[in-house]
Amino acid sequence: MIEMKEIVKHYGKGDNVTEALKGISLRIENGEFTAITGHSGCGKSTLLNILGGMDRQTKGEYFCDGEDVSGMSERELAKFRNSHIGFVFQAFHLAGELTAAENVALPLGYAGVGAKERKERAKVLLDRVGLAEKYKAYPAKLSGGEMQRVAIARALANHPRILLADEPTGNLDHENGEKIMALLRELNKEGMTVVMVTHDLELAAMADRCIHMADGSIIAQKN
Ligand SMILES: Nc1ncnc2c1ncn2[C@@H]1O[C@H](COP(=O)(O)OP(=O)(O)O)[C@@H](O)[C@H]1O
Ligand SMILES: [Mg+2]
Repeated sequence: MIEMKEIVKHYGKGDNVTEALKGISLRIENGEFTAITGHSGCGKSTLLNILGGMDRQTKGEYFCDGEDVSGMSERELAKFRNSHIGFVFQAFHLAGELTAAENVALPLGYAGVGAKERKERAKVLLDRVGLAEKYKAYPAKLSGGEMQRVAIARALANHPRILLADEPTGNLDHENGEKIMALLRELNKEGMTVVMVTHDLELAAMADRCIHMADGSIIAQKN
């Protein structure tokens, strides 16, 4: 379970300070599918980055499955990220010089998995996202929807319990966006906690719960 209490995030200092989050309190149960919506600049990515241990809050408490994430050292935080969190971005962030399979295998390499097992697991993961036949394809030869599938397969490589997706359908047309949403839904049905930021209210309505943010605060929640 994710539990945040009065999370505040400031960027910059003095006169230049931006209050990106102004006291966010939030509870997400394991296995829940939560959508976060709100206008550009309201703090969605900031919140997701703190959830994923990519950034730290200025004030407030963050517990994940009872662990005090705010109290972690940099090393502990990196371990938390690598063992619990999968991240998916709007812009895919695939390495252009690597094949689909090599992109998926990349985090396995960092985790010390041997070459043969990396190959096998990349295959299984690409199969899982419906891209088994694109194993050897380079990103330039893939459609946007396919690139996002590769990015999701990569995010799943280390068996995260929580998948965080920051506008994963933002660069896709509506049809491909729905397909990505369906894939996230399937992963969620298999037990994964999913938190997805989206501008698309139609997609957000497909989540278990929708959190609406404005100007650094949660202003509404719908189940
Ligand atoms: N690294 C940063 N340094 C300074 N300001 C930032 C930084 N990241 C985000 N901000 C500011 O914090 C606010 C929230 O940004 P963000 O979380 O990216 O919003 P969203 O994802 O909802 O568009 C915005 O005003 C943005 O300009
Ligand atoms: Mg954002």
